[in-house]
Amino acid sequence: MHGFSFFIIKAVILQYGTKSLDNFCNLYYNSKMKYYYIITYGCQMNAHESEKLARIFRDKGYEAAESAEQADFVLFNTCAIRENAEQKLFGNVGAIKSLKRKRPSLRIGVCGCMTQQQGAADSLIERYPFVDLVFGTHNIDAFGSYLDLLNSRKGRVIEVWEREAAINEDIGYYRTDRVQAYVNINYGCNNFCSYCIVPYVRGRERSRSIPAVLGEVEGLLASGYKEITLLGQNVNSYGNDWGGKDSFSALLKEISRLTGKFQLRFMTNHPKDLTRSVVECVASDSRFCHAIHLPVQSGSNAVLSRMNRKYTREDYLSRVAMIREILPDVALTTDMMVGFPGETEEDFADTLSLAELCRFHSAFTFVYSRRRGTVADAMQDQVPEEVKTERIKRLVALQKEIASSVAKEYYQNKTFEVLFEAADTRDPSRITGRTGAGRLVSVKGDPSLIGTFGHVKVTKAGANSLFGELTEV
Ligand code: SAH
Ligand code: SF4
Ligand code: F3S
Repeated sequence: MHGFSFFIIKAVILQYGTKSLDNFCNLYYNSKMKYYYIITYGCQMNAHESEKLARIFRDKGYEAAESAEQADFVLFNTCAIRENAEQKLFGNVGAIKSLKRKRPSLRIGVCGCMTQQQGAADSLIERYPFVDLVFGTHNIDAFGSYLDLLNSRKGRVIEVWEREAAINEDIGYYRTDRVQAYVNINYGCNNFCSYCIVPYVRGRERSRSIPAVLGEVEGLLASGYKEITLLGQNVNSYGNDWGGKDSFSALLKEISRLTGKFQLRFMTNHPKDLTRSVVECVASDSRFCHAIHLPVQSGSNAVLSRMNRKYTREDYLSRVAMIREILPDVALTTDMMVGFPGETEEDFADTLSLAELCRFHSAFTFVYSRRRGTVADAMQDQVPEEVKTERIKRLVALQKEIASSVAKEYYQNKTFEVLFEAADTRDPSRITGRTGAGRLVSVKGDPSLIGTFGHVKVTKAGANSLFGELTEV
């Protein structure tokens, strides 16, 4: 094969000279181009990490494929937060087996939070002998070397580091969105909420330096990005690992010094750590969005204490009051969970009443899922499935009612400045913009507006979707 290609290249030199050799080499390379396809599960942080994996693929000469069918390498970036996330993954990895049977040269990799769990890699390779590569969250930066290994010899590559590595600022991200960008500010989590797998699969909290974050944000703004979302499992403890004090406010103040027009968001906030000074920073710069995601999990003090959340219902409500005092138009959103071990009907009623008191703009609602190795998994009084199902239905119905009445009050017939982000997939004559509160609004408009700011009057406000029209101001 090598002899053959060498022969052709020589023939081209003879006929066309060296300039054409470059073109020919490109052509020859393209005909051998390899394609990757990444399937991502889980949170924004995982989505952002897939942008890093894409960067590494591209640095190794791969291009993005449009589907798994067209790819030479399919990589699953997994989530382990709830059991159903894992089941979905197992189903999809199983389904790819037929592709591999048809095309044995197809490579399949699995990485992310699920593979980082103890024993997960072993059971994965045993159950799926056609998987070529498994690595964990701690060794994601070594992905390029695993690709090299797979391409240079036969056999599988399985490597999961037990401990987190130091932050590596040298690998970039391949972003496909041209308007909004994620920027990680800290990794890992030290909170050990008793139900949660994240501290086990993401390691201890590590914060990037202020200059590193600032440099990335500046670079993104300079290349035209208009919406920056700072990411961390708990952005409010940013800098605690290097002994910083209220470092998240310090970071926000630095970002505030940057010039230009953009929207800044951040998530997620932990109610025990969100300070008044952070909320004041948000209020002090019109480019900082008045949207705070403040996961409460439960409205019952007994449950919150067993969850190891380190705040009470009263603490939470006073934090909400503080936020609303400083940012009266804030869009407050949350996460709530039902069926935590030992949750009584009374505890659940406390969650419902807290939802009514807080009137969240929207909420992610979850059924508690047992996670191996967590403290809550060992708790005695697990709640029966049928009770969990009945409770989640009631919570979802209540929150839907609240969200639609909040949407009418907050948005109906009001005008907002929005950032146009994308074409509306449901209607090609429309585009979607994001309000400062983080809600998408669909308007009739030309795609050339994408990436610009404009004013939109909301004409129809539902719990999940907003429709509006472009206005002058
Ligand atoms: N670090 C973030 C959220 C991480 S996970 C925070 O603390 O807010 C996102 C949400 O998933 C959590 O807020 C919680 O509501 C939910 N979650 C986490 N573990 C869960 C489990 N074992 N079962 C059900 N929901 C869970
Ligand atoms: Fe999980 Fe709690 Fe950490 Fe959030 S703060 S990632 S819920 S342990
Ligand atoms: Fe995110 Fe799931 Fe991991 S929610 S941090 S991808 S367990």
